[in-house]
Amino acid sequence: MRILIVGNGGREHVLAWKIRRDSPSSEIFSTRPNGGMLIDSQPVDISPGDIESITEWSVSQDVDLVVVGPEGPLASGLVDLLGSKGVPVFGPSKAASRIESSKIYSKTLMKQIGIPTADFKSFTNSIDALSYIKKRGGAMVVKASGLAAGKGAIVCGNVDDAARALTNIMTNSTFGRAGREVVIEEFMEGEELSVFALSDGQDSCLMLPSQDHKRIGEGDSGPNTGGMGAYTPISLATDALLSQIQDEIIQPILSGLAKDDSEFRGLLYAGIMLTDAGPKVVEFNCRFGDPETQAVLPLLASSLLDPMMAIANGESISGLKLHWSGKAALTTVLASSGYPEEYPKGLPIHIPEEIADDPHALIFHAGTSMSPSGLVTSGGRVIAATGLADTLTEAASKSREIANKIEFEGKQFRNDIGWRELSRSDTQLS
Ligand code: AMP
Ligand code: GLY
Repeated sequence: MRILIVGNGGREHVLAWKIRRDSPSSEIFSTRPNGGMLIDSQPVDISPGDIESITEWSVSQDVDLVVVGPEGPLASGLVDLLGSKGVPVFGPSKAASRIESSKIYSKTLMKQIGIPTADFKSFTNSIDALSYIKKRGGAMVVKASGLAAGKGAIVCGNVDDAARALTNIMTNSTFGRAGREVVIEEFMEGEELSVFALSDGQDSCLMLPSQDHKRIGEGDSGPNTGGMGAYTPISLATDALLSQIQDEIIQPILSGLAKDDSEFRGLLYAGIMLTDAGPKVVEFNCRFGDPETQAVLPLLASSLLDPMMAIANGESISGLKLHWSGKAALTTVLASSGYPEEYPKGLPIHIPEEIADDPHALIFHAGTSMSPSGLVTSGGRVIAATGLADTLTEAASKSREIANKIEFEGKQFRNDIGWRELSRSDTQLS
C-alpha cells in the first residue's frame, strides 16, 4: 500500500510511526517531514498547505490512502479536492472542519443542538464586544473565531484583561484574520479531558482519553501554547463518564453536522471541561491533538490503519473495538527558548543513543530538521519525549529522564506533566 501523511509535526510523526507498525510493508510518504519522520517515511517536497500539489502528486503516484494531520489543509478543502479525484483520504471535508475552523459555527451548532458548553456571544465589531465585556464582568474567555495554532483563546480574570485581549485580537490582529470575529464566553472551572473519536460520519469509536497541559509554565501558569505535555489514562474518565460524553456530546454533534450537510469522517477531538454541572465542551477539533496523540497512540495495540482505511473508503465502523495495551504513557514536550513567543532555529540537537535502545522511551520529533551537519531545531515545540510503563508514576519518570538527556541550547520543558493525576493516586494499571 502507498500512504501519504500530510503534515510534519509531532502528531504526524506518531501517525507515521503507528502506521509503519500497522503495516510494515507499506510505502509511507510525508510532506516535508521533520528530522524524525524520515525514519518511517519518505520525503515528498510539497508544503503541507499546498493542497493542489498534494492532490496532483497523490493522483500521479496512485496513492491508496492520504492521512491529513493538521487542521490547516483540512480547513482549506484538501479532503474535498482529493475526494473529487477519487483518492481515499482520512480526514473531514472543508464543511465538516468548520467545527474547528470557525468557533462561531461550532458554538452556534452546539447551542442549536443543546450540547453542554460555555455560554457565549460572538462579535465582528470591537466596540460592541467591549461593551459586552464590561457588562459581563468577572472572569471570561476571549477567543479568535478562526484558526490560531491553539493559541487563540485568552483566559481573562477580569474586565481589564479581557479588554486588553480584545484589543490584541481585533485591533492589533495578533492572530491575523482569525481574529476578525471573536467569541466571548463564560469561564468554566474544572479539569480538562481530551477525547478522540474515530467517526465514519454516523458512528463513533472513542479512543483512550488523555489530558493536555496547554500553559507554558509549571503548575499550569503563563500563556497558552500548542501543548506542553500530555498523558493517559485518566482515572476521572470512568467508563460511565465516557459513555455520557459519547451519548450527550459526540453522537449529537456528529448527527448535527450530518444534518447540516457536513458529515464528519475522520478524527473528532472533543476538548471537555469536567465541571460541577457535568462535562461541557471547551472546543471541538477536526483532527488528532498534539501532543495528546504522542501519549495515546503508543498504547493502541490494535491497528489504526484499518479503521482509517475503512473511514476513507466510506465504510461503516459500527461495532469497531480498539484494543489498548493497558499501560500508561506520558509525554513531555521539549520547546525552544522563548516559545510560545519568538524563538531561535537551527540549533544542534543531541539525542543519546541509549534512548533509541530503550523500549519504554519513544521520541517524536516536531520542530526538527535534518541539516547537512545533523539534526537541528526548526520550530517552537521541538521534540515530545514519551515514557511508557505499567504506572503513570513510572511513565512520568521515564519521560522526564529522556527530556533531561536530550540536549539543545535553550531547551525548556515542564517537569510536572501529569501532576493532577499523579497527585490523586497511582493505581497499578496492569
Ligand atoms: P481553545 O482554543 O478553545 O481550546 O482554548 C484553549 C484553552 O483555553 C483550553 O484548553 C482551556 O484551558 C482554556 N479555555 C478555553 N475556553 C475556556 C472556558 N470557557 N473556560 C475555561 N477555560 C477555557
Ligand atoms: N493539544 C491541543 C490541540 O491539539 O489542539
